Amino acid sequence: MASYIANKPLITAALTLLAVLAIANCICSAVAARDLSSSGYGEEAMTARHEKWMAEHGRTYKDEAEKARRFQVFRANAALVDRSNAAAGGGKKYQLAINRFADMTHDEFMARYTGFKPVPATGKKMPGFKYENVTLSDDQQAVDWRRKGAVTDVKNQEQCGCCWAFSAVAAIEGMHQIKTGELASLSEQQLLDCSTNGNNNGCGGGTMEYAFQYVIGSNGGIATEAAYPYTATQGMCQNVQPSVAVSSYQQVPRDDEDALAAAVAGQPVSVAVDSSNFQFYRGGVMTADSCGTNLNHAVTAVGYGTAEDGTQYWLLKNQWGNTWGEEGYMRLQRGVGACGVAKDASYSIA
Ligand SMILES: *[C@@H]1O[C@H](CO)[C@@H](O)[C@H](O)[C@H]1NC(C)=O
Repeated sequence: MASYIANKPLITAALTLLAVLAIANCICSAVAARDLSSSGYGEEAMTARHEKWMAEHGRTYKDEAEKARRFQVFRANAALVDRSNAAAGGGKKYQLAINRFADMTHDEFMARYTGFKPVPATGKKMPGFKYENVTLSDDQQAVDWRRKGAVTDVKNQEQCGCCWAFSAVAAIEGMHQIKTGELASLSEQQLLDCSTNGNNNGCGGGTMEYAFQYVIGSNGGIATEAAYPYTATQGMCQNVQPSVAVSSYQQVPRDDEDALAAAVAGQPVSVAVDSSNFQFYRGGVMTADSCGTNLNHAVTAVGYGTAEDGTQYWLLKNQWGNTWGEEGYMRLQRGVGACGVAKDASYSIA
């Protein structure tokens, strides 16, 4: 009885918190609301939530110790996602979700699912910017290369830090479709195995520019995905018939989002980003306040536009499967240097 009374203020506080969360829950979008519906951070509620998540994602652990450790990670991530989504009612433009990455720590996730390494300052640069005098026409105020058939289905790099290969391939796929009208899915695995030039290092990270250099120089082109399929581990470089050639590549002037828009209006563009807050992205426009400019991941800008509330965004194709984000894509705030999106952008030339 005594302990019950002593705990009463705590219980009241907890109930108030739950009530606040419940209210926040109603304000959020339908998707976020579904994720928040089981709010509660007690051991029992959270264990049930973890079990449910494990079942949904077919996750098993090798022993109880591992499960207990993963439970703690899951609990912390669930709290982070819920907190961010509750704040969304107060004006956040994006929502997070407790997705299939929910039992990975931030460091584990970044180590396995990203993999961008900038070109050293001494690296070879290609001169010129072919879009330098482009003025966007009225019908280029919004661009979506998916609608023009220049973007292949969302891929999945799995647990291999070769985002750089996926980003370069998506840029080449777009270049090729725009030139020929043919959309061909091309081989990341070839880059993973064979583009070890520069600082490219397989699943250990690399750069799109070195990938373009490899395709231009050493091989006469890049093979199709079907001819050289993805295995998510680096293997021996195979001699496979190339399918699409690249003659050169260029960089978009750094920190210039107008120049980036001119380039993206012309073709899909490889971009490096700081993906430090991307792990649980579910939808909406990711804003600049959520990340710095420490470039650690590579994706492909396949368009841009303006959201209903007037926020300008880049349309980014990621390669974490199509259950992440907006069916595999992210909209990232445009015009404010968000996540360093215009710091290291490049594209191939047919
Ligand atoms: C852009 O315009 C300037 C000035 O007319 C010209 O010197 C330059 O070659 C043009 N750039 C391209 C890529 O056409």
